[in-house]
Amino acid sequence: MQGLTTVILAAGEGKRMRSRQPKVLHELCGRPLITYPLRLARSLADRIVLVVGPDTEGMATVVGDGVAIVEQRERLGTGHAVLQARVQCQSAAGPLLVLPGDMPLLSVQTLERLVGHHTATGAAATILTALVDRPHGYGRVLRQGGRVKRIVEDRDATDDEKRVAEINTSVYCFDGGRFWRALEQVKPDNDQGEYYLTDVIEVLNRAGGRVEAISVEDPDEAHGVNDRRQLAAVAAIQRRRIVDRHMLAGVTILDPATTYIDETVTIGADTVIYPNVVIDVASEIGSDCVIGLGCQVRASKLGDRVQLKPYCVLTESVVEAQAVMGPFCHLRPKSHVGAGAEIGNFIELKKATVGRKSKAHHVGYLGDVTIGDGVNIGAGTIFVNYDGAAKHHTSVGTGAFVGSNTSIVAPVTIGEGAYVAAGSVITKDVPPDALAVERAPVVVKENWAARRRARRAAEKKKDN
Ligand code: UD1
Ligand code: CA
Repeated sequence: MQGLTTVILAAGEGKRMRSRQPKVLHELCGRPLITYPLRLARSLADRIVLVVGPDTEGMATVVGDGVAIVEQRERLGTGHAVLQARVQCQSAAGPLLVLPGDMPLLSVQTLERLVGHHTATGAAATILTALVDRPHGYGRVLRQGGRVKRIVEDRDATDDEKRVAEINTSVYCFDGGRFWRALEQVKPDNDQGEYYLTDVIEVLNRAGGRVEAISVEDPDEAHGVNDRRQLAAVAAIQRRRIVDRHMLAGVTILDPATTYIDETVTIGADTVIYPNVVIDVASEIGSDCVIGLGCQVRASKLGDRVQLKPYCVLTESVVEAQAVMGPFCHLRPKSHVGAGAEIGNFIELKKATVGRKSKAHHVGYLGDVTIGDGVNIGAGTIFVNYDGAAKHHTSVGTGAFVGSNTSIVAPVTIGEGAYVAAGSVITKDVPPDALAVERAPVVVKENWAARRRARRAAEKKKDN
């Protein structure tokens, strides 16, 4: 919107979060809270000023480019916080939009409506309000003859005022010129001894300015995050929005209530997601996949038609098209499963590359290993990658066959097409197409068991 300046308030201590971390760096569906108003501001404003507190390590990296960051050294209230942005804003001719840092459910449409109304009416201030069932804790909008007179904070309100259901969302649009003059007049006479931005409304009214208000259409947008209960409540709403978006884009989600998908995740059409699934940290899921019951996919990429059977845990890994995983498999970071590969029950991968159509079906540890295409890894195979001091790498060539219950002690190379006999402990390289057996030869004693039984029976007879 032309000439719009946005000030985002994020210097509050967030005392009610009881956290060492600034409130606005707490995450909501995989993104820090502050990124929500920033995204809105970026889509609307020409100029963005962010007011932060003194102990906001890590804020600049989260915020990114194109935002002027000013510090509010002492937290003297929301009015005082906006005042810190004055120098950055004063040269701006257009309207001033103020956003709180802790209302992540606001929509861009609502803000466009607010600024539009403000500009059309030529008001000194336009407040975004909400009609809510439980106004407790919020500032109340006090009207006289229908017009907004002032805002009173919950803690300063009389019993009558507390009954007002129209609350201040902390989102405002101001006329730049009149606003800064009025803000100078705000005094800290209230229960907290703070400079309240809300008091500027009364000042503007007294100066003869017109104060307008519009209400949010969806009261969910007005939820603020002050404590962790509210963070959870807001997250539940946001999660539902994300899941709805995916369903509308063609993803089947069997139980939206137990499906946790981060903001940062992409999912292809016709993928089916079973209950109790968590997909987060910028994971990318292809089309026509099945994500089974209880899976967790984090920072991972799945090609098309991948099947995750129940209870797979994938972290920082890649699974290519048509691979079949699980149930109960664990991909630790830097694992790469090739197209059409099958990784079955109780298999753990770590820094493992598995080639196309290779199989490891039952129980095993594939750590620090590169496995070629079409390899069969038998049940209970362990890649012994750690000697107590260092990790070592193993490679298994294309078409090799590793028998069950085998330990492969790294570093070794198993050549292409080689065969490792079941029960071996492989400590040397195996050349291509060779057979390796590394175990004690079998000793067969004919009739041994029968003789033993007979001896036992004879002894028993003697004892009686
Ligand atoms: C504020 C409003 C209240 C409104 C509610 C909506 C005031 C006085 N009250 O109350 O009318 O109903 O929001 O959610 O404005 N901040 C600073 N510096 C400060 C204090 C706060 O930057 O010194 C920032 C916070 O980081 C936060 C925002 O301002 O992003 C609002 O502050 P908060 O303390 O959460 O105000 P509320 O008590 O929620
Ligand atoms: Ca708040």
